[in-house]
Amino acid sequence: MDIQVLGGSYIKGTVQCSGAKNAAIPLICASLLAKGKVLLRNVPRISDVFDICQILRYLDCRVIFKGHTMLIDNVNLKYKPLFFDECRRIRGSYYFIGVFLALFSKCEIWLPGGCKIGARPIDVHLQAFTDLGFTYHIEGNILTLYKTTTNEVATIALAKPSVGASMNALFAALSLSKVTILHGLFEPEGMDVITFLKEIGYPIFYTQEGLFYEKARLEFKLVKHTVIPDRIEAFTYVALGLLKGDVVVKRVNPKDMQYPLEVLKDAGYQLLIKDNEIHAKKSYGKPMLLKTGVYPALPTDIQSIFGVLFLNTIGTSQIEETIFENRMQIYTDLIQSGVECRIEGNKASVLGTTIIHSKEYKAYDLRHGAALLLLALLGDGESKISNFEYVLRGYDDIIHKIKSLGGKITIL
Ligand code: UD1
Repeated sequence: MDIQVLGGSYIKGTVQCSGAKNAAIPLICASLLAKGKVLLRNVPRISDVFDICQILRYLDCRVIFKGHTMLIDNVNLKYKPLFFDECRRIRGSYYFIGVFLALFSKCEIWLPGGCKIGARPIDVHLQAFTDLGFTYHIEGNILTLYKTTTNEVATIALAKPSVGASMNALFAALSLSKVTILHGLFEPEGMDVITFLKEIGYPIFYTQEGLFYEKARLEFKLVKHTVIPDRIEAFTYVALGLLKGDVVVKRVNPKDMQYPLEVLKDAGYQLLIKDNEIHAKKSYGKPMLLKTGVYPALPTDIQSIFGVLFLNTIGTSQIEETIFENRMQIYTDLIQSGVECRIEGNKASVLGTTIIHSKEYKAYDLRHGAALLLLALLGDGESKISNFEYVLRGYDDIIHKIKSLGGKITIL
């Protein structure tokens, strides 16, 4: 899908933040673990969620998705090998592995897809499954896992901070009677899933020391849960306000974005932060020196957005990507748009400027595509962005939301 963007228009208005992609995906997968129906509210209407729903339907679950509310009935759930196109298309399909191990003690699945932002191995997931008593084989692109021990108690430590491996280890741990997980990385989205698992009846205790689980009997009940706001989406609209006009982002949780918001405030940007809304006005800040890191540090998912935000600094800002190896594409686009920018491996420096030449761009991943849209809105003319479908994987209704703020976008 290609879009055309006319730069230069003033952006003003209010935008509602949607539910978090990285919470919604594991929550929908985790709904298979409930005894009884699950009603999820504030579910983002994004293509990754549609793909996960297709996998649930393939597994004979009933999924009704109206507006932003989703009803999941898993009463007819059956074990099936997960040889299904949607598994290859998205990254989040890997959560079915942990869920299947908890439910069926086995899983056969095509290896997960997702944005090409680095090698993205799943060795930490596999080690966690092994430590929990499962054996795995990989043949071609098929991963097979099955239970080989009768151990009911385990203490495992994750070898590396990983969002996906922590969640998957937790799901698989639910097949045992008593588990401790050390060094898990449960960001706000992971904490939302832990809350949900507790709501459906799994006794999980999370402390700074680790995560503790002890088996209990689940009861039949309808569980209602509201997905937390998407901090990455919220930050994207905050950046748009700072770069282009005056935007109020509603239904957000600023506490989940504390560090990046502090960075902006310290640099002098105009932000008014309330309990669940952020007001961002066009402003110019001091140069920043940043690097991405694991929560609560700067999220890698907004690194490219910062690359564009640097255009509104007076001087040269620098950023380093430390999580993924291949996530620096936006800086090449900045250079092509006439910006003074240097790229050295996973570090980039950007000199602030108001002159941005509109170009033809190509999105290489979800977050890169969102940053390109901001760049195109700053441009001095008409830009084209191809591969825009990447952005629709994670941003709910983005074209309509930006048009409602005054952005000029046409789907080609
Ligand atoms: C998740 C998010 C993604 C986000 C990322 C980091 C989902 C569906 N995706 O991705 O949007 O950008 O967290 O916040 O929630 N690693 C290994 N071995 C493993 C697992 C990870 O080496 O087994 C490495 C990765 O290659 C990467 C780093 O660890 O360099 C962090 O990855 P991880 O936190 O697992 O990210 P994802 O779960 O893939």
